[in-house]
Amino acid sequence: MNIDDKIRELESRNLEAELGGGQKRIDEQHKKGKMTARERIDYLLDEGSFQELDKFVVHRCQDFGMDKKKIPGDGVVTGYGTINGRRVFLFSQDFTVFGGSLSGAFGQKVCKVMDLALNNGAPMIGLNDSGGARIQEGVMSLAGYGEIFKRNVWSSGVVPQISVIMGPCAGGAVYSPALTDLTIMVKKTSNMFITGPQVIKAVTSEEVSPEDLGGAMAHNTKSGVAHFAEDTDQAALDRVKEILSYLPQNYREKAPAVECTDDPNRTEASLNTVVPTNPRLPYDIKDIIRAVLDDKQFLEVQKHFAKNMVVGFGRLNGFSVGIIANQPKFLAGCLDTKASVKCARFVRMCDAFNLPTITFVDVPGYLPGVQQEYDGIIKHGAKIIFAYSEATVPKITVVTRKAYGGAYIAMSAKHLGGDVNFAYPTAEIAVMGPEGAANIIFRKELTEADDPVAAKERLVEEYRNNFASPFKAAELGYTDHIIFPEKTRPRLIQALMMLKDKRESIPERRHGNIPL
Ligand code: HXC
Repeated sequence: MNIDDKIRELESRNLEAELGGGQKRIDEQHKKGKMTARERIDYLLDEGSFQELDKFVVHRCQDFGMDKKKIPGDGVVTGYGTINGRRVFLFSQDFTVFGGSLSGAFGQKVCKVMDLALNNGAPMIGLNDSGGARIQEGVMSLAGYGEIFKRNVWSSGVVPQISVIMGPCAGGAVYSPALTDLTIMVKKTSNMFITGPQVIKAVTSEEVSPEDLGGAMAHNTKSGVAHFAEDTDQAALDRVKEILSYLPQNYREKAPAVECTDDPNRTEASLNTVVPTNPRLPYDIKDIIRAVLDDKQFLEVQKHFAKNMVVGFGRLNGFSVGIIANQPKFLAGCLDTKASVKCARFVRMCDAFNLPTITFVDVPGYLPGVQQEYDGIIKHGAKIIFAYSEATVPKITVVTRKAYGGAYIAMSAKHLGGDVNFAYPTAEIAVMGPEGAANIIFRKELTEADDPVAAKERLVEEYRNNFASPFKAAELGYTDHIIFPEKTRPRLIQALMMLKDKRESIPERRHGNIPL
């Protein structure tokens, strides 16, 4: 063979690998509204930046006639490239090759690229579209999953890991995405479940469609397994790019600052009236969040799940921050089990990747209820306390209205290490709500009053004026500043700039034991 022949062989082998399971299967993939594994990579990465690894790897299975069916690449495309000039590593499962199922060789390819991401300190992105363990390979496939899971765990908190679910993802295969930081699902074409509808029907007689059981909205609204639901493959990949823009490459770095064209001293008069004077009336905490962030841009995470808690990314003066906020529009902003887990996990992600937390507080307390207690509100609520207490990133808090009892402490209070704690003049910081407090401390007056309703009203007001204000906390130094709401943005930015070189350490140990 002369050199020309060798080059031609390489060309034809490349073409063969790039065709994956063949044109017919590629057409089927398109018919389902899905991009192919390679099209997804081309769309996600900067043009021409993709460097493929292991393009000619094939499986080693000899059983069930598999020795005659070998496709170069074996159902997963792996490699590295850049997104907006920043290095990323990725794998993209190819459904056209054995349904994207995971063989031993496939697992080794994924592990190789995960090791590179970890050792080189760059984000790892997984594009999932797979029928799960390659059934012909049995336990070799399980070994592959186990090795991947271990790497997901080792990478956790070291490099950002993002999973996109763009097709089936079933059985134990769901645990790799579940171990990553953020999961994006594509509506209608993706699903995730441990056991599918048929098994569920056989075991519990429940009938459910794959979409209702494990579709994008099921996991975005009910289980909280996913963080984003997007309409198309393209939209999901755009979301990956957007998320990465807020994150650093790894835990040692800070997220890249962007040029800020929004005036850091911008005041917002609407904030003076956004909080209703009647404490029973709701308002949208996102009106405050958007008003203060650069260009009013807020990327909400898990927006369909536990809506009484709002979390997401934004920027202040060009610097990435994590936003956490109670939402008075839902459940009056109470902390329930789901909101607690949502909040704690997000705070821990911010702390892992050097994102300062900005916490807006309007919380009447933990949600009362028998079911909440049985569901473990004690241990789930404790997660918030754990997450804020161990977080050493800059922590800034703004109490807009209610901050009562244990929930006041949990939401980034001074006592858990809040660095700068602001309060609006409308803030009510107290051990409990005025109604409940009046019932207890004025019980005698209330039972003896000629007009108990009028007496209650008067005593509640008395309690509110004396204790449910920001001034008691300010007198004690638990609130650093009581601020004019319209100046929230400049005050937050000044605090953030003051804290930008913050260093804090917590006691040395193997690791904490967060109440799971
Ligand atoms: C081998 C598989 C496969 C698998 C699909 N294929 N899943 N091959 N192992 N797990 C093959 C099919 O045989 C078919 O090949 C091709 O991929 C496309 O699959 P279709 O069924 O034609 O596609 P579709 O109708 O879209 O259905 C997709 C599907 C279905 C819902 C994913 O294929 C399916 O139910 N697959 C099995 C899922 C499963 O039970 N996986 C194992 C779970 S156990 P041909 O050549 O016929 O076109 C598991 C344990 C992991 O994953 C534990 C980790 C800890």
